Amino acid sequence: MQASVAGTVCPASTRVNALGHLEVAGCDVVELASRFGTPLLIYDVGGLRDRCREYLAAFGSSYDDVTVVYAGKSFLCKAMCQIIADEDLGLDVSSGGELWMARDARFPARDIVFHGNNKSTAELTLALEVGVGRIVVDSFHELALLERLAAERDVRQTILLRLAPGVAAHTHHALQTGHERSKFGFPLRDAGAAARAALDAPHLDLAGVHCHIGSQIFQLAAYAEAVEVLSAELAEWRERFAFDCREVNVGGGLAIDYLQGDGAPSVEDLAAVVAGALKVTCARHGLPLPRLVVEPGRSISGRAGLTAYTVGSVKDVPGSVRYVAVDGGMSDNPRPMLYGARYEALVANRAAQAPTQDVAVVGKHCESGDVLVADARLAEVAPGDILVTPATGAFCYSLASNYNGQPRPAIVFVDQGSPHLVVRRETWADVDRLHLPWRDR
Ligand code: LLP
Repeated sequence: MQASVAGTVCPASTRVNALGHLEVAGCDVVELASRFGTPLLIYDVGGLRDRCREYLAAFGSSYDDVTVVYAGKSFLCKAMCQIIADEDLGLDVSSGGELWMARDARFPARDIVFHGNNKSTAELTLALEVGVGRIVVDSFHELALLERLAAERDVRQTILLRLAPGVAAHTHHALQTGHERSKFGFPLRDAGAAARAALDAPHLDLAGVHCHIGSQIFQLAAYAEAVEVLSAELAEWRERFAFDCREVNVGGGLAIDYLQGDGAPSVEDLAAVVAGALKVTCARHGLPLPRLVVEPGRSISGRAGLTAYTVGSVKDVPGSVRYVAVDGGMSDNPRPMLYGARYEALVANRAAQAPTQDVAVVGKHCESGDVLVADARLAEVAPGDILVTPATGAFCYSLASNYNGQPRPAIVFVDQGSPHLVVRRETWADVDRLHLPWRDR
């Protein structure tokens, strides 16, 4: 990657400063690395806020009644909950752990949407206790369980039914979720029976339907197909059960650029396709327009975040490859291994220098597959340099592990020249803390 930095993968505030260092939101990345240590995840708060506003503006101008819900699974911490609340977005949580964090951050409960294909009794109980706005029900088992738990508390819980619309989005197979054989949601042949059961449950208030067709989606036509299927189903429910749908949630999934110029569609394009399809298909079936809900994760958090590492060993395998090893790897970013994801890389303390060489950026883990960037174009690089991989804001910290006993990174939010530590770095003692001895020594 070149010194013309930001491009389409770094936060828009990225610059090269007078020292020739990479700078994000007015903060020198080399200084951040020395102050907070590495690996370090850095988020541009302005970039996060801008994307939230872009979603509200684009969907708001394409459709009258819209709610934007941030998918916390892509990246969540308490500070992020606060930013999402500031920006008037809802929050999608997909486990008791995320819900716990949102509650602790005082995220407004009515704006929380709770997901998951196998929510436990404890998780549903917590959701009822917190008073979440929506629970997205995924199975007959969950319908019955939630009705029982709501009855015990004498509350009426608003729900959506998640449907698998039978649409295969063009993305990595592990990121497809809306196809016929998906483990998520009710297959279409069961959808009518699920609606009937939900409408018959006295402690459940069925507001509408949900679908999520996949993630890192470039071809937006799949959204129009999914909306078409949902509208046809809703027309049937209206006919059979006199059910008036108040809400259609189309999930998330918009792709981002990982490499410069990947060409991910814009939020405006997504809004036009989804809102257009909903208006046309509702009109065709004579349905009143429901509220439209969209649930972006990656396209809000992805580009705002980047990871800084310290370079250790630089090793030449004669006639083959130069390995540049950093102090993290698959424990802070398993995406290259899981999905074949590709990233850019650049040297933060030599950001003004042109790239001169092809290298493989590898992690420090005991796996040959622990390769972060197989084909990086880098400036000169030496031990002690700070290497950055952009576009690591989504699904890196949330997928991070303690593999090889590696502590997870710290997270710093940068805003108008000031850094704020929002997640502290794990220590070796943290990694050790849950372990109990088999016998006293
Ligand atoms: N809503 C639901 C119900 C979801 O399951 C997801 C993502 C989203 C919204 C947000 O989708 P997004 O806008 O972020 O694409 N670990 C994988 C991605 C898994 C996506 C899971 N669901 C990765 O690293 O690419």
